[in-house]
Amino acid sequence: MTPDEMKKQAAEAAIEYVESGTVVGVGTGSTANHFIDLLGAMKGKIDGTVASSEASAERLRGHGIQVLDLNSVGQLPLYVDGADESNRHLHLIKGGGGALTREKIVAAASDKFVCIADDSKLVDVLGAFPLPIEVIPMARSYVAREIVKLGGTPILREGFTTDNGNIILDIQDLKIMEPVKFEEQINSIVGVVTVGIFAIRPADALILGSSSGIKQLP
Ligand code: 5RP
Repeated sequence: MTPDEMKKQAAEAAIEYVESGTVVGVGTGSTANHFIDLLGAMKGKIDGTVASSEASAERLRGHGIQVLDLNSVGQLPLYVDGADESNRHLHLIKGGGGALTREKIVAAASDKFVCIADDSKLVDVLGAFPLPIEVIPMARSYVAREIVKLGGTPILREGFTTDNGNIILDIQDLKIMEPVKFEEQINSIVGVVTVGIFAIRPADALILGSSSGIKQLP
């Protein structure tokens, strides 16, 4: 089974969490795209979606699914999204697709965050995947110097601008032993919009596709 087939398997399992007559929070990336495509088949049963990126909004609309403004719907019952890494506490690294800020907002505004991935994303220690941070452009050099003081190596994601008009620094050489503390530390650097650690608000369930079937945590 390919990683993409495993991602689809996880997305199929997440569809079970969607309840009729609700607005669904939808993430970004290749795994979330499988979820969007499956949602297309049941669009008549839901009241709409809130998207975590322009790319996902476009894909949802392509299926004829209504995309709503988060401000007009309030708290969401469910958010489904992928991840770049997860540990066993369901602390995540996200933002490989650069959508981390809107993803974190939708996750924060959702009662249940179901994370879907192939099983290669489950790791013992977060940080092998370069940690994305979204940064206000004029703060780029300052934030990079602060990251170096914390032991990281920040690399500018060349030619990339977020949906919010900002840049991404990808931090290499990390072993994140205390994800909540590290999230708080990076959050406190002036000029950082969002760090791609989702530990203060982790996922509530992790569904992993694998060659031996679905695995779920907790
Ligand atoms: C986008 C994300 C994605 O969820 C993450 O990069 C995983 O992507 P994929 O499902 O393509 O492996 O955080 O900002």
